[in-house]
This record gives sequence, C-alpha cells and structure tokens, in this order.
Amino acid sequence: MTSLSQAAGEVNTSHKELRDWVDQIEALCKPDSVYWCDGSKHEYQSMLDAMVASGTAQWLSPEKKPNSILVRSDPADVARVEDRTFICSADEADAGPTNNWKAPAEMRAILKPLFDGCMAGRTLYVIPFSMGPVGSPIAHIGVEISDSPYVVANMHIMTRVGQDVLGVLGNDGAFVKCVHSVGMPLAEGQKDIEWPCNKDNKYITHFPETKEVWSFGSGYGGNALLGKKCFALRIASVMAKEQGWMAEHMLILRLTSPEGTVKHIAAAFPSACGKTNLAMMTPTLPGWKVETVGDDIAWMKFHDDGYQYAINPEAGFFGVAPGTNYKTNPNAMESLKANSIFTNVGKTPDGDVWWEDIDRPAPDLLIDWHGHEWVHYDSTHKAAHPNARFTAPACQCPVIADNWEDPNGVKIDAILFGGRRATDQPLAMESFGWEHGTFLGSTMASQKTAAAAGKVGELRFDPMAMLPFCGYHMADYWRHWLDMGKKGGAKMPRIFYVNWFRQGADGHWLWPGFGENSRVLKWVCERCDGKADAVETPIGHLPAPGSLDLAGLKIPDKDLAELLEVKNEDWLQKIPAFREHYARFGDKLPSELANQLDALEQRLKA
Ligand code: GTP
Ligand code: SPV
Ligand code: MN
Repeated sequence: MTSLSQAAGEVNTSHKELRDWVDQIEALCKPDSVYWCDGSKHEYQSMLDAMVASGTAQWLSPEKKPNSILVRSDPADVARVEDRTFICSADEADAGPTNNWKAPAEMRAILKPLFDGCMAGRTLYVIPFSMGPVGSPIAHIGVEISDSPYVVANMHIMTRVGQDVLGVLGNDGAFVKCVHSVGMPLAEGQKDIEWPCNKDNKYITHFPETKEVWSFGSGYGGNALLGKKCFALRIASVMAKEQGWMAEHMLILRLTSPEGTVKHIAAAFPSACGKTNLAMMTPTLPGWKVETVGDDIAWMKFHDDGYQYAINPEAGFFGVAPGTNYKTNPNAMESLKANSIFTNVGKTPDGDVWWEDIDRPAPDLLIDWHGHEWVHYDSTHKAAHPNARFTAPACQCPVIADNWEDPNGVKIDAILFGGRRATDQPLAMESFGWEHGTFLGSTMASQKTAAAAGKVGELRFDPMAMLPFCGYHMADYWRHWLDMGKKGGAKMPRIFYVNWFRQGADGHWLWPGFGENSRVLKWVCERCDGKADAVETPIGHLPAPGSLDLAGLKIPDKDLAELLEVKNEDWLQKIPAFREHYARFGDKLPSELANQLDALEQRLKA
C-alpha cells in the first residue's frame, strides 16, 4: 500500500477531539500505519488496486463491468447478525425487549481485549464521512476507523467521504465515533487471506449515550459499513428522539402524475422486501413517473413551515442482487453497469456477474460465490448467495431525482408501511389518521429474509421495519411517533399499508408487483388529493371498486378479489397475537396504541 502511505497531519484538521480519539484507537489497535482518507477518486482507485493485489478482490471484465470488482466473503460472514448486535445503554430499560443489551462497562471490558492489537500487520484507515449532503441542516457527520480497504471503498460509494467533511466539522463539531475491525491481526510475515474476519467473535455494539459504534469480527454490509444501519438508524434513532426528528428504514421516491402533480413518498419495508425496487421502479401506468431520492434510509426533520422534509443520508445503493434484472428493475441494472462492487455473486467465464433470476441463463463454467465451478445440483444450491449485494453510486441511477441532494430535503406527502405477507394483509389500504397509522406500523409483521442470519420465511413482528434497527426501547420509539404526529398535526404525511407479497393457495403471487405497483402509488397520490374513493373496513380504508386503476392489467378476478378482501373472522383470530406482541412492552406501551387495538377488536366484532 505504498502509494497510499501518508504522514499523520497531511489531512487538514485541527479538531483536537478527533485527533486525540484517533491516537487513542491507534494505541489500542496497534496497526502498522495510519491513513486519513481524503475521499478522492485517486484514493478510491488505489483502494481497489490494493484489494486486487492482496487477493481480496478481482477485476471484472472492463467490457462487461468497467472499473468494477468482485469480492467473495467467508461463507460464515454473509449478512447482518442480529443475535450479535447489542445496544449498550446505561439503563437496560432503555434498550427494551427487542434489543440485546449489555451494560456499557461490561461491553467495553469484552471489547478491549478483542481490539487490543487487532490491527497488527494492517493499516488503520480514518474515514470522515457525512450522512447526507455535506453541510445540509438535516445531515450528520461520523468518522469510521476501519482496518478493511473493502470498507473504505464501500464507504466512498455509500457516503460522502473526505476533506470537505472535516471542513464542516471545524475545530469542535460533533461526530459519531465508529470503530471497526475485521478482527484478524497479522503476525510478522503472515499472509493475509481473501476475506479476513473473526467469525466466532462478532460484536456489533452501540453506545447510545456517547454516540459510539464498535464493530468487531465481520466485514459484511451493515455489520461493517457503520454509516448505514449502525449510525444512520440505531444511533440516529436515538439522536432523532432526543432532538425531535425521525430516522427511518425508508426509501424515498418522487412520483409525478401525467398532469404534473408531484408527490414525495417514503416507504418502510423490512430488509429485502422491495425498497430498492419501489424506489426506482418503471411505472406501467402511462404518463406516470417515478424518480429515486433514496432506497433504504430516510432522515426527516420539521421545517419552519411545519411539514416533514426528508433527505437520503446515503450516496449509493447497497442492493440485493438476486432477483434484480432488466424486467423487474432496469434502473438498478443501469446503476450497476460500471464503477460498482459486487459481493458474493456468481462470475461468468467472460468476466461478468451472474445471479439467480438475472434473466439470462447461467453460462457453462459459471463460478459460484464460493469460487467453485457451479454445479446446479438442486434449487438450494445457488450461484449467488441470497444476500449477495451490489454497491453502486446513486448518481449512476438513470432515474435519480434532480433534487435528491437538496440539502433541505423533500417534503414527504405519504408514508407506506409494508412487508412480506402471504395471507390476510390486503394489497393496499389507508390508515384512519396518524395515530391509527402508528398503530399499523407498530403491528407490522413480515416473513424473515436472507438479509439477516437466521431462519428465512418465519413471520415475525417488525414494527416500522425497524425491529433490527431501533437503537432504544421500541415502545418509547412508538411514543416518539405519536409525539411527532401531535406536533405536526394535519401537516403530517398520510399513512398507508401495502402488501405486494400475497400468495394464492398454490403459492403463486396474486399481485404481479414491480412496475405494476405504480397502480397503488397512483391511488395513494389521489387519496392525498382527495380524488380517489375508499371503502371503510374495520382495518382501514381500502380502495373502492373502480378507484384502483387496473386498465390493461391481466389478472384473474378471483386473485383481485382475494387481494382486496378483508375477512373479519380471520383478523379477529390475530388479535391475541397482537395483544401478546404489545404485552412485551409492559407499562411503556403508549395508551393510544392499546386503545387502537381495543377499537380494532370492537370494529371487527360489530
Ligand atoms: P434491503 O436492501 O435489504 O433493505 O432490501 P430492499 O427492501 O431494498 O429490497 P429489494 O428491493 O432489494 O427487494 C428484495 C427482493 O424482493 C428482490 O429479490 C426483489 O426481486 C423482490 N421484490 C421486490 N419488489 C417486489 C414485488 O413488487 N413483488 C415481488 N413478488 N417481489 C418483489
Ligand atoms: C438491510 O439488511 O436492511 C440492508 C443491508 O439494507 S445491510 O446494509 O447489510 O444492513
Ligand atoms: Mn435495508
């Protein structure tokens, strides 16, 4: 890494707290050298070169995927690890029943020996980054220390890195301290391996009082790119509660009608439940346009006019590769055409990428994500890992909205909740208002996906798609939602609930999804403008017959009926599960939500 060697002090910062902190971490981790990232293009290229030279990455073909690399992780390090993720608040009650908790002193006592000397033989990178456009009043700054060039390269794409950020930080600006190590020091002369990690000692830890993240042992995604889930959701959700704003696991899109009406919609779906796809979808409805502001995280603050404005704190997409193709998501395919990082996908003999459902047959001599020649024994043996990802710059998305980097954010008109629900949950409905909408979010459930380690397909409550990402007591978070609603009043976004994943008895998708979801977006837009009709049911306002634009859609009447059906008996049967879910939160459960559940039961019985 000689081309990147750098004397301390070359990067310009007089922020004493930052310098002292870096010195402290250096003393603890004992790296061979320290390198401050300037965020330059040259630096990014050097990082890729270094990864290729060390065997961590390989170039893809310059014809197929220019300036792009393929990286294969250790098979034991392929997704977020929720059971190794901890919220270390001073008081256990502040972490709540949905988070793993350890007392800060106890966790620091575990981490100290792990981090002691953990960067031996490696370079310590200091990555100053902004979540959100540099200097935006909605943005916040973090500094990640990492011993992984893969992390540095990904952070270059996913966040805004470098000297500008240090400029905004000045002498004494606040920043979130993020420390990351793959947890595999190298002894003198020891050769590095393709994907260093410490699979038996992973710790993804958060200290909400001091706004710190310490992550050890994993190099993958949300475990290692600490600006993303660790900072922008877990720590930021605490900051948002303290400061009166919202940090949410939501895409942001701009929808324009044929008449030129513009709406901004945010949508909270759990991991691998369709945010990236919805954010950049190609509407099948003529004349409608969707443009992308963000695909995973939204930070929303009140402006002086009393409305909620959102920014996308990220600068790139860390998207699910399998299932992405030119039919379902052409804009994602265009975004990843070049200058991208591919992790755990298959590789074709001509140096391109391949994954399940990419819409071209697997070529002979395909190399799978393990680096072996792929033999398609059966459907469980995949060429790409189900949580294989692409990292692509947001600016490469053909439908990126021209206001996506507006430092003031975009005014949010509607919020959608949704998840994978094979039964019961209708295609679309609107809440009766903010409080009922908060109730809908708090009782959201979805089938588990491969984005996190564990059993796929299991139905679990995932309130507001934040179950793995809320950095404090979930019931206090609901309290915060209700408080925000009281503050914003009639100016708050309208709340909807959608479900693209309902299945027939034989398992087929009842709804075609993807671009056809524009039909639901149109209904949402028209509901906001008081133009579309709805029928009141016990669970919410459903599209009235004829109000959902189905022109040109070939879908059996039977399927459509099922998609919009509400069976009171079936919903009544769910009430005990809702009560059990709420009971976990004890006294902290806001009375408004308990009342909402009682009212639902009454409506269902009426
Ligand atoms: P994270 O990045 O983990 O937060 O995921 P995400 O919410 O952005 O999910 P993404 O858009 O990447 O979609 C995940 C998977 O769901 C992909 O395999 C998609 O093909 C599939 N998917 C997305 N939208 C739809 C839809 O409307 N219908 C169906 N049937 N599948 C969909
Ligand atoms: C998710 O799991 O919701 C993701 C991927 O967006 S990761 O960055 O790994 O959290
Ligand atoms: Mn996500």
